[in-house]
Amino acid sequence: MKQPMRVAVTGAAGQICYSLLFRIASGEMLGNDQPVILQLLEITPALKVLEAVKMELNDCAFPLLQDIIVTDDPKIAFSQTDIALMVGAKPRGPGMERADLLKDNGKIFSSLGKVINEVANKNIKICVVGNPANTNAYILAKNAPSINQRNITALTRLDHNRALHQLAEKTETTVSAIQKVIIWGNHSTTQVPDITYATVSNDRAKDKVDDSWWKDEFMPCVGKRGAAVIAARGSSSAASAANGIIDHMRDWCLGSAEGDWVSMAVPSDGSYGVQAGLIYSYPVTCQNGDYSIVQNLDISDFVQSKMTESENELKSEAELVKELI
Ligand code: NAD
Ligand code: LMR
Repeated sequence: MKQPMRVAVTGAAGQICYSLLFRIASGEMLGNDQPVILQLLEITPALKVLEAVKMELNDCAFPLLQDIIVTDDPKIAFSQTDIALMVGAKPRGPGMERADLLKDNGKIFSSLGKVINEVANKNIKICVVGNPANTNAYILAKNAPSINQRNITALTRLDHNRALHQLAEKTETTVSAIQKVIIWGNHSTTQVPDITYATVSNDRAKDKVDDSWWKDEFMPCVGKRGAAVIAARGSSSAASAANGIIDHMRDWCLGSAEGDWVSMAVPSDGSYGVQAGLIYSYPVTCQNGDYSIVQNLDISDFVQSKMTESENELKSEAELVKELI
């Protein structure tokens, strides 16, 4: 039997976690031979609901679930953890942009970043989900300088999966036939869902769809899908977000599929001219518990101008949160 891995999850009594926690405990994220200990953080008023979630997790009798720690103390939640899933934050409502959440949510990530800096393993793998995810991850990173900065990432896998579905539907195939879609930039409407290198059953996707479909329908559909779900459901995506988190962390820990790319928002190392340190979504491959940004792709003027627009948005969000870093 392997040693258990400790997984900290914040916002554990919320909507996303009601799907996420059960999938982690069943082995879908870290493998069906990897025991886990869940370290669940909530704000004090939500602890009662979190105790009920713990009851239900226990009632599933998951063989891999070794322990569940429920707490409102971040020092306990992040102690000795291998992984932190930073979900706890306000969701937006109809008519709001994700960046409108920055004022309320930014301070959660500065204070939790400081605690992570103090008590977490230096190589902890972090995925920020709470919106605006890229800039919250940026705030966390700046408040946790002792943590391996490469490992502070944000979720754009949900956007990647949305792009896979839209392209599969358009080309009348299934998502398993599609490879190498890319989400560049911010998890916002400026994100760049790019099919330049995508293939459908090994043929170039761009030969199967019109340029106008890609630019005028696919890109806005993927970029605004979160708002469309809110309009339809009355609250933001939850099960699909949990699924994106599972995919992001599973591929990072266990490796991404051979010959394919996935999208992760990671600290820029200057690749593709993006300002170093911004948390920017790139195409990556994952192997041996690490990720690598796919390098040396030719970028068209059209995609480049969109990538720069998204980078500029991240720069202005960073400017807005200067007092938190
Ligand atoms: P929710 O309101 O159902 O749950 C959030 C939970 O976080 C609540 O239980 C709340 O008590 C808790 N919380 C608040 N402050 C906290 C703190 N300081 N420490 C610990 N817990 C805290 O919301 P949800 O639907 O689960 O969404 C959570 C966040 O994820 C939102 O910001 C949402 O916009 C974002 N989201 C991101 C993506 C993405 O792709 N990046 C997708 C979906 C949702
Ligand atoms: C999503 O993309 O579904 C989430 O970021 C929630 C939102 O506010 O759009």
